[in-house]
Amino acid sequence: MSNLAVLGLQWGDEGKGKLVDLAAERFDIVVRCQGGNNAGHTVQVGDQIYKLSLVPSGILRPGTVAVVGNGVVLDPEALLQEVETLRGVGIDVRSSLLVSDRAHVVFPHHRLMELSSEGENSGRRIGTTSRGIGPCYEDKASRRGIRVAELLSEEIFPRRFRAVAAEKAAIAKALGIGRPWDPEADLRRYQKLAERLRPYVGDTTAYLSEAVSSGKRLLFEGAQATMLDIDFGTYPYLTSSNASAGGLCTGSGVSPRLMHDIVGVAKAYATRVGEGPFVTEAHGEAEKSLRKVGREYGTVTGRPRRCGWFDLPLMRYAHSINHLSSLFITKLDVLDGLASIPVCTAYRLDGKTLDRMPAIAEDLARTEPVYQELAGWERPTAGTTEFEKLPRAARQYIDFLEERLDVEIGGVSTGPRRAETIVRDGSALQRILS
Ligand code: IMP
Repeated sequence: MSNLAVLGLQWGDEGKGKLVDLAAERFDIVVRCQGGNNAGHTVQVGDQIYKLSLVPSGILRPGTVAVVGNGVVLDPEALLQEVETLRGVGIDVRSSLLVSDRAHVVFPHHRLMELSSEGENSGRRIGTTSRGIGPCYEDKASRRGIRVAELLSEEIFPRRFRAVAAEKAAIAKALGIGRPWDPEADLRRYQKLAERLRPYVGDTTAYLSEAVSSGKRLLFEGAQATMLDIDFGTYPYLTSSNASAGGLCTGSGVSPRLMHDIVGVAKAYATRVGEGPFVTEAHGEAEKSLRKVGREYGTVTGRPRRCGWFDLPLMRYAHSINHLSSLFITKLDVLDGLASIPVCTAYRLDGKTLDRMPAIAEDLARTEPVYQELAGWERPTAGTTEFEKLPRAARQYIDFLEERLDVEIGGVSTGPRRAETIVRDGSALQRILS
């Protein structure tokens, strides 16, 4: 039985949750592999809008088990809040959520550390979501982290927590960035949270391995996106985990041999939250209009998203890293009514045409887009469910992207609801969803 991964290709918020929700009924288990509650998934089922952050959105399909993998950094309070919300809408979370005992725990001191690195005077602001994600991954890499399994150990947790707290306090003092902090109060709070978390925790790698052996289908739900990937994104303006294909394996303990299909999700234009280079960023009225029509405000922080145009060099780069089975284009309807639509076909830097993404953020920031203007369409695409029923210019827009990227565009989203989706006949996406 084949497994599927759904990945964002731009800077997050591409609408992965919608594809996951569409696919979830064919899969037994949905798996989240990286990131934390910096992610925001908005899924609309009927008229109900669900906003999830840590729990994979596939949990909304009855009978689907949701796994929070070892690569995730977990804020227990945030997770338990989501559990309450899901319970409130009648989802049996107890039998459908499993959290890895190897996931690292986000503590209040991680958020405090982030406040100082993201402060006005830090000189290296990334524009993060301020959820302590980066500092938690820092502790993981420097082997000072505390994992869920340790949090649940009455004997080990106090010892480990006090040792870490003493070290953090000494560093803060030496750097003169101390803030009032009562580690013992945090310790007690996390001991209580641990008890509420316990029923959901287990060895997710063993669970997934057995599930594969017994023929169950896995759906891997990416968080953030390739351009925010710690290795392949616009370093250092990115998140602290591997948000492209490789992170699926390390973040779940599932072998690369079992990643059968990878579907990438991209908006029909582009958005980005936070700092960092954005070659195709639009300005003035064009940007305002994309933001307004696309309702482009961050799910987690509410910040207005920066908006711009579809970037073919970026997407080719993202495809070369993820090697997609198919591409799903979202929010096509946001472009309805534009007389013409710019698409970036190439990059120019220092008078030269580039065929690769520059590795240095400063170079990317100086890179200029070469645009080709494509015709807009005269009637709305919103709600269209068949490719042939799209206006001719909208079909030409999709065909142009497909040809220039040399990857199948298997589906197009024309609105937030499940039904407002096109899956193209004969596409790999259709096969994957069947
Ligand atoms: P962090 O992940 O909170 O450390 O933030 C690092 C960068 O990633 C910032 O630019 C954030 O805005 C961005 N980011 C993190 N998670 C998401 C997401 O789920 N969607 C969009 N941007 C994100």
